[in-house]
Amino acid sequence: MFQHVQRVYLNGEFTAPAEATVSAFDRGFIFGDGIYEVIPAYGGRPFRWHEHLQRLNRNLAVMGIPRPLDTACWEEVAAALLDVPGPADLYLYLQVTRGVAPRDHLFPARTEPTVFAYSNLLSPVPADQLEQGVAVITLPEIRWQRCDLKTTSLIANVWLRQQADDAGAAEAILVRDGEVTEGSATNVFAVMDGEVITPPLSNALLPGITRNLVVELMQRFGVSHREQALSREQLLSARECWITSSTKEVLPVTRIDGEPVGEGRPGPLFRRVYDLFQRYKQECRAGKTA
Ligand code: PDD
Repeated sequence: MFQHVQRVYLNGEFTAPAEATVSAFDRGFIFGDGIYEVIPAYGGRPFRWHEHLQRLNRNLAVMGIPRPLDTACWEEVAAALLDVPGPADLYLYLQVTRGVAPRDHLFPARTEPTVFAYSNLLSPVPADQLEQGVAVITLPEIRWQRCDLKTTSLIANVWLRQQADDAGAAEAILVRDGEVTEGSATNVFAVMDGEVITPPLSNALLPGITRNLVVELMQRFGVSHREQALSREQLLSARECWITSSTKEVLPVTRIDGEPVGEGRPGPLFRRVYDLFQRYKQECRAGKTA
């Protein structure tokens, strides 16, 4: 079960995964009352580290969970967890819950947050998915009104993702009031009239670190794009589509609700953006950027 996880960090200690246990009264367990991050690490270097840490700290502040570690301490934890032999890429998982307290919906007055972190192998995106693209389905958005927060309360997300898998699809693209928000664990891009469209940041979607980097790269390298509402109908008639996340990177979508996207193959703008992303990633691996 833990074959690739060598050791984990829990509340100030590094231990073997099987030894890392938390109280059944942890509010993360009882209420899903916690915040988390998933951070890829290429060549041992966390990717967009400051952006991830900023998002974690912002989310903790919104939720009134005290910051358990400062940046230097998180960096020590990350460095220790990424100090693993071998060239494989890894990801870091960081989680902070409100801590252990008798079950009560109200925030407890004085509780130490529970801090958990580990690293594991980052599975490369399968070559056939990159060459052929993946299928997705659209589903009604059933989540709450603060999808901009990266909370550990993910029961709706895992349910939606399971429904996609049951339908033979790689992801569920969510639609609220006729408009695309995001995937169950990804952000969404579509190409219409030669322009890349992605929904603007709002409470309806996570400000994905990969999404924001892709927007930044398109800006910097002159790829025509717009952050704009995207209806389900527009998505279904898009020439190209892709999804982004820290673990899937930039992944082409070639079928939506059983219908081909464009020619049914990854398109030229996907290739351009994918190449820009991969080049940026290689610079990070080489220590030229973060
Ligand atoms: N999920 N939207 C949702 C709902 C997500 O859970 C994620 C990431 C994203 C993409 O965000 P980023 O580019 O910062 O990874 C968008 C992570 C990978 C997970 O839960 O495993």
